Amino acid sequence: MSLRLVLVGPPGAGKGTQAKIICKKAEIPQISTGDMLRAAKSEGRLPEDLVAKMVAGALVPDEVVIGLIDERTKADDCENGFLLDGFPRTVPQATALDAMLEKRGQKIDLVVAIEVPREHLVERAVLRRTDKRTGQIYHLKYSPPPAGTREEDLEHRADDHEDVVKKRLDTYEKMTAELLPFYSARGNLKRVDGVGKVDEVTKRMLEATSLK
Ligand code: AP5
Repeated sequence: MSLRLVLVGPPGAGKGTQAKIICKKAEIPQISTGDMLRAAKSEGRLPEDLVAKMVAGALVPDEVVIGLIDERTKADDCENGFLLDGFPRTVPQATALDAMLEKRGQKIDLVVAIEVPREHLVERAVLRRTDKRTGQIYHLKYSPPPAGTREEDLEHRADDHEDVVKKRLDTYEKMTAELLPFYSARGNLKRVDGVGKVDEVTKRMLEATSLK
């Protein structure tokens, strides 16, 4: 059985955290435009104007991420589906996604929106740390890294400083507001409460995706 899934949610909602669990269970790859852009940045392949947009908490142009997704979803490991984490974020991205899948006789099966009120999101993002070696996402208060983890192995993202997080939240509210009505109108949107412990949210996610 194939599963083509989209995760939508504001910065810090837990998309990456939940995506890793769902992908393991469903045996599909996690495709995160944020991770792809950060990898390009750290390898010096991301043009300076796009680096500046990310650091300022703005979106990169639609055509850049559409190109990345078009290429990535053609790979062999996407044959039985994939989970898109952080794409699409705008209606033009969503319509481009539909068009590229339609050409391949495919479609998005389900869109899951993780809902978390703004007051939780700044703390979640600011205290996030990612293990550079494994990609595991930690939170200094809610899911701390195991004892003995060296500080130099933990990445504090350049856009996870409070002022930038607030700008990213504003961008999300402005740019992504139209996306949920777009998917809701098609009847393939499920909303999941993202407040609570990680495993409580996972339980809701697995129910929403029928992976339980
Ligand atoms: P991206 O990397 O996609 O960032 P984001 O959408 O802002 O989302 P985050 O990665 O911040 O949060 P998350 O929801 O994955 O949360 P996580 O699980 O890590 O994008 C970065 C930038 O790239 C954008 O600003 C833009 O410039 C560009 N970009 C990317 N995609 C683009 C696109 N499609 N179009 C244009 N530009 C694009 O969790 C956060 C923290 O909370 C962690 O510390 C975690 O441990 C903790 N946590 C998770 N769940 C819980 C819980 N239940 N309780 C307590 N803490 C929790």
